[in-house]
Amino acid sequence: MKVTVVGAGAVGASCAEYIAIKDFASEVVILDIKEGYAEGKAMDLMQTASLNGFDTKITGSTNDYSKTADSHIAVITSGIPRKPGMTREELIGINAGIVKTVSSSLLEHSPNVIIIVVSNPMDTMTYLVHKTTGLPKNRIIGMGGALDSARFKYRLAEAMEAPISDIDGMVIGGHSDKGMVPLTSHATRNSIRVSEFLSDERLEQVAADTKVGGATLTGLLGTSAWYAPGAAVSALVQAIACDQKKMFPCSTMLEGEYGLNDICIGVPVILGKNGIEKIVDIPLSDAEKAKMQESAEGVTKTNGLLEL
Ligand code: NAI
Repeated sequence: MKVTVVGAGAVGASCAEYIAIKDFASEVVILDIKEGYAEGKAMDLMQTASLNGFDTKITGSTNDYSKTADSHIAVITSGIPRKPGMTREELIGINAGIVKTVSSSLLEHSPNVIIIVVSNPMDTMTYLVHKTTGLPKNRIIGMGGALDSARFKYRLAEAMEAPISDIDGMVIGGHSDKGMVPLTSHATRNSIRVSEFLSDERLEQVAADTKVGGATLTGLLGTSAWYAPGAAVSALVQAIACDQKKMFPCSTMLEGEYGLNDICIGVPVILGKNGIEKIVDIPLSDAEKAKMQESAEGVTKTNGLLEL
């Protein structure tokens, strides 16, 4: 199983590290446009292999896509991240050009690859890959909801002073501060609804903190986060590589599901060896449906900025 990670920056290197540590891939190729950067990151990571106990071979390449040939899965993290005070949508101008070029270069050498889009604004970048590559929808996956859900679980555990492993919860909708829809009514602690433990006001606060999870970290770090994004990407890659049939909220092209059409936005999907194997229809309350609709309007507006 060969995995390519485009972009050897903070998120790309972090996801390559988690993939290697989990030791399910035979080979990870990291590619970056910056001369020597991917080679350096790959060498540094390989020098952790004997310490962390993995056999995955990690190599780096400066923009030579022939090195990525016959990849099963490719992750696109290339592009610029946001700075404090910026929205993800403000990155569209630069990142759209990068994502378009990168996806077509990947496909030249790996025609059967499954693409995971990470670069922001992620839902719009996922839509762009659909429109420009014409790949079947199961092979284009946007990563945002897996990260937002991990942040939601972190906030829920914190509010209830509970171990995170007891918590289940999901965030659907657009991957933006305004667009995320944390499904508070579905969230559970040891299968018990969290509303049994938290007041409505506290739950609303948890949802609000979740939605600005990325912005909070950008404020603290001066750039966007990388550990949780990298871990979230590696979980999706593992679900596909190991045919786990696991459910994650991912951005995918909708054709009527959730009442939406011609849009990539976060909904629960099953990931397995074919990429997105099923879109899962979970019942939403009227309030959640309204929030999803509003979120979709935001994503559609950003999609309108693309020059297709
Ligand atoms: P970074 O600046 O650390 O790394 C980006 C890398 O992309 C750089 O090394 C740069 O040289 C490389 N790059 C730029 N153009 C390229 C090209 N044409 N081909 C190959 N490589 C190229 O940024 P970071 O923090 O890793 O973030 C990457 C992207 O991921 C950003 O757009 C960020 O907003 C997004 N992101 C998305 C998340 C999500 O949940 N979907 C979470 C966190 C970040």
